[in-house]
Amino acid sequence: MSTLLLMKLFETTPNRYDRGIRLLTGGQLDNFYDRVIVHVKEGDRVLDIGCGTGALTLRAAKKRAIVKAIDINPRMLDVARAKAKKADFSQNIEFVEMGVAELGNEPDQTYDVVLCGLCLSELSKKELDFAVNEVSRILKPKGLFLVIDETRPQRFLRRLLQGFFRSIFKLFVFLFSGTTTRALKNFQDRIEKAGFEVVSFQLNKSQNLLELAARKIGINPDE
Ligand SMILES: C[S@@+](CC[C@H](N)C(=O)[O-])C[C@H]1O[C@@H](n2cnc3c(N)ncnc32)[C@H](O)[C@@H]1O
Repeated sequence: MSTLLLMKLFETTPNRYDRGIRLLTGGQLDNFYDRVIVHVKEGDRVLDIGCGTGALTLRAAKKRAIVKAIDINPRMLDVARAKAKKADFSQNIEFVEMGVAELGNEPDQTYDVVLCGLCLSELSKKELDFAVNEVSRILKPKGLFLVIDETRPQRFLRRLLQGFFRSIFKLFVFLFSGTTTRALKNFQDRIEKAGFEVVSFQLNKSQNLLELAARKIGINPDE
């Protein structure tokens, strides 16, 4: 699964993204998505950050949530829109071409749930800090932040192995796409500092894919 960063390559051909990522993760990602989405309830206001082709967006819309799905790549959004139309979920979803940098325009305490699948690892460290703080601001008190993303294994040997394979793939991906990804590091600590309490946390067998649900507790005791 250090191959996860190959997802950057599939983003250059959005029509093949879903098939590519399924092959890459052996379907494991779908199981993670299905599990994390149980936290979304009917009528919830949901923001999906870096929605891509809509894997999480469509799952949330299926649960009759009201979803705003944002992404900076208009071609990924086109695929997501087409999938939503086919599944007849379009009325529940607003797709917007928008980046993490524009989260500052979202009003305070708007969302019950913020979703983020494989997008945080595509951000710079500065953007990641900004995103986490903004998510805390725009979530309602006790709102949920649901994250699935690549992480650094905790065990030393696994981390060493992942680091080795990752550096090979990283070069390859950079040569083809001009970009790369960064596996999340100490993510639990980071979000706790931003005013979240981790309510569930799971890793896959290889320890490099995390699934996390965190509740906003806020700095204010009333929150
Ligand atoms: C690996 S894809 C994952 C897509 C989808 N969330 C999923 O789980 O299938 C990451 C997505 O994040 C988007 N993305 C990357 N950086 C972003 C940013 N700064 N703001 C918004 N979206 C971003 C990419 O365009 C891409 O569609």
